[in-house]
Amino acid sequence: MSRIVYVNGEFVPEDEAKVSIFDRGFLFADGVYEVTSVLDGKLVDFEGHSRRLERSLGELNMAAPVTIDELLAIHRELIVRNDLQEGAIYLQVTRGADVDRDFVFPDPEKVPSSLVLFTQAKAVAESPAAKKGIRVISVDDQRWARRDIKTVQLLYPSMGKMMALAAGKDDAWMVEDGVVTEGTSNNAYIVKDRTIVTRQLSNAILHGITRAAVLRFAREAQMKVEERPFSIEEAQDADEAFITSASAFVMPVVEVDGESLGGGTPGPVATRLREIYIEESRKMAI
Ligand code: PDD
Repeated sequence: MSRIVYVNGEFVPEDEAKVSIFDRGFLFADGVYEVTSVLDGKLVDFEGHSRRLERSLGELNMAAPVTIDELLAIHRELIVRNDLQEGAIYLQVTRGADVDRDFVFPDPEKVPSSLVLFTQAKAVAESPAAKKGIRVISVDDQRWARRDIKTVQLLYPSMGKMMALAAGKDDAWMVEDGVVTEGTSNNAYIVKDRTIVTRQLSNAILHGITRAAVLRFAREAQMKVEERPFSIEEAQDADEAFITSASAFVMPVVEVDGESLGGGTPGPVATRLREIYIEESRKMAI
């Protein structure tokens, strides 16, 4: 089925959507993005995603192409036009299409930033992977140092994912200075003696919107949370592990570098947090 996508002010069939070869997103990965999940035809944590988008744009001195209210209207229009019940909306802002390839940023008055959005239908709440859990390997974190900015420079995370698939596993956790930063496209957690451990926020990781919600729900449910780095060895010795992201919600991890956790099945904390997250997200979606 052909989707209706949004490109710079227009809703068009996906095979008619066009961006310039001079677009800086294409030539320099000079762009930022957001992925907002959709449940029951409604947006999960749109406010969190739009706030992070504003921050990413600000950190890169990139002009916002539309206001947040306009962005919300575009998201909703895409949901309606594609009859999207469950899945996600991908949004990308780039520094626009200059007249030629040039390392110097163009004048934003002359070159407007470009905006693209499209829907992705996917069963996120009833995910088969969540019932089995996923297996991760560790890889060296070779990304740039500003991982708090959600840029479209995703080559290394994509390579990490390929390394995991080549090893017959599902995903990779990236390791820097002996400790885990995060997953290729998700935040990483372990659980030991019912305490949830996840790396504290800094420029080393993306400030996950799902992470913020899940930690809030965990604390509200009286679960203990420690925000600090952990090593692969500590993860292998943990009772359970999981990841979070807008596209995976809370996803149990049942193996780390070949070592099974909790007998190789999803743990109770991850399972409970996934239920709470989906239940609360359904209630709060707009
Ligand atoms: N990825 N860390 C990284 C490196 C990510 O790319 C993501 C999201 C997260 C989780 O953030 P959030 O909870 O806000 O989705 C953490 C998206 C889903 C993606 O690239 O598809």
